[in-house]
Amino acid sequence: MRYFIGNWKMFGVPKSINILNKINSFYSKDKNRKKYRVIITPPYTLIQTYAKYFKKKNIYIGSQNCYQKDQFSSNTAAVSPYMIRQVGAQYTLVGHSDNRSEGDTDIMLKNKVKFALKNNLRVVFCIGENKKDKKNKKTFGVLKRQLTRVLEKNFNVNNIIVAYEPIWSIGTGKIPTKADLENITFYVKKVLKSIFKNKSPAVLYGGSVDGSNVRMFRDLRGIDGFLVGGASKSSKKFIDIIKNYYR
Ligand code: PGA
Repeated sequence: MRYFIGNWKMFGVPKSINILNKINSFYSKDKNRKKYRVIITPPYTLIQTYAKYFKKKNIYIGSQNCYQKDQFSSNTAAVSPYMIRQVGAQYTLVGHSDNRSEGDTDIMLKNKVKFALKNNLRVVFCIGENKKDKKNKKTFGVLKRQLTRVLEKNFNVNNIIVAYEPIWSIGTGKIPTKADLENITFYVKKVLKSIFKNKSPAVLYGGSVDGSNVRMFRDLRGIDGFLVGGASKSSKKFIDIIKNYYR
């Protein structure tokens, strides 16, 4: 199974559902549709409407983040995994670099993953090195730390997906070389297998994915899909990624 996840970030109003309608009609006619799943993570404000609308259709709705507590609490503006699940989301991102840079710590991320899983949300756990780590050849160490400090062996591996998103690649148009990405994915899966009794969750790539570079990723071993930011805000660009991947 491949995953194409569109992360809208701070984008979208109710009528932006048109974008999803177009993706949905492409998917329903696509001969490859059994091979992949489309997940969109709109902002909190749209989850309920979109999840209800697409309930019996082909698009899964997820959240971009969740708070590190289970149900209800007195944290202003926080939204818990329970609340997200109750309005119909089936997935949540955890640990996107945007949120890490705003203060998400490993212990917060661990609680987010724990309570998201407890509330039947599938977790897309994001990891990735910054430009300086890459320059200093620290990538493997950083990724290992990000994985082992948060993921625990008793977490349900079947409900976890890992997204490798090098921070230097997000929104910049820069992507890793094929060789680097193959080595990194192999390494990430090795670390994951050491956590989860020889089982690895799906590992996605994210960072400046578009309709033209996806053809390079297509031939890579070990990449189970993509987390797409910028290009997911246009139905045409997002559909082009899927089309070109299978072409
Ligand atoms: P991008 O974002 O595709 O715009 O680089 C990816 C992400 O932040 O998930």
